[in-house]
Amino acid sequence: MTKLITTIDEMKNITKALHDQHRSIGFIPTMGALHDGHLKMMSLSAKENDVTIISIFVNPLQFGPHEDLDSYPRDIKSDTLKADSVGVDYIFHPTEKEMYPELPTIEVKAGRLASVLEGAERPGHFDGVVTVVNKLFNIVRPSTAYFGKKDAQQLAIVKKMVEDFNHSVEIKGVDIVREADGLAKSSRNIYLTDDERLEAVHLYKSLCLAQSLYVQGERNSAKIIAATHAYLEQYTSGTIETVAIYSYPELIEQHVIDGSIFISLAVKFSKARLIDNIIIEA
Ligand code: PAJ
Repeated sequence: MTKLITTIDEMKNITKALHDQHRSIGFIPTMGALHDGHLKMMSLSAKENDVTIISIFVNPLQFGPHEDLDSYPRDIKSDTLKADSVGVDYIFHPTEKEMYPELPTIEVKAGRLASVLEGAERPGHFDGVVTVVNKLFNIVRPSTAYFGKKDAQQLAIVKKMVEDFNHSVEIKGVDIVREADGLAKSSRNIYLTDDERLEAVHLYKSLCLAQSLYVQGERNSAKIIAATHAYLEQYTSGTIETVAIYSYPELIEQHVIDGSIFISLAVKFSKARLIDNIIIEA
């Protein structure tokens, strides 16, 4: 049975005992509202490690003032059942007060990698992410931590943070899990109206179009971006915030494609802001 742990002290005592027993710890940080994207990482971790720990914590530091912190879906009971079904041993689920008894005096800054794409759209977001992930890594001290490629920029930033701060953890990127029609699974998909849900599949389809242009030999980013943008305009009613091509994982804008890239999208619907991407290896 999955055990729910709510205090930092108790979690640290458990991880200390696991370390003393030389047992490997797989860790998946989440904000809850678990779906198949999260669960896939958890079953992978359960296969690859002696013990699997997840965290469920809606981290206020990574939400902007007008974002959905208060309305973010929270359902610890249903999340616990789901986590249990894929072999999770512990859920670390602290309160906000437990994690931040006061606003952190010292914050981690994500720096250049956060100055583009989602980081530019959501100022301070990645500083909040790296600050909480730093705390979580120190509390859980995992051998391996799993992050989804759905948030490709987050994955690149966390990897760099681990390198720069000498954390003793291996970061594994896990492929995007999608609905049958191609929409990337997300805790925020529930905010879509029925009509928007039908349109949302076109984010993925526009990425497939972009990829097919690349496969046909197109290396001029502006041309791929224009075609992707035009497709999204035709098939969705959302506001297209981002269609961009960056090198991966360095996150440098590419005008002429050379090397591994990721094509990144953000579309704002009435209540949901959806992101999706495709990574194309060189
Ligand atoms: P959250 O949005 O809950 O996502 C937790 C993890 O699940 C992230 O690594 C994310 O990339 C991954 N994920 C989400 N949807 C996915 C999908 N469709 N396929 C594969 N992986 C998917 O990301 C966060 O929480 C937070 O920023 C966090 C890292 C927990 C720090 O607060």
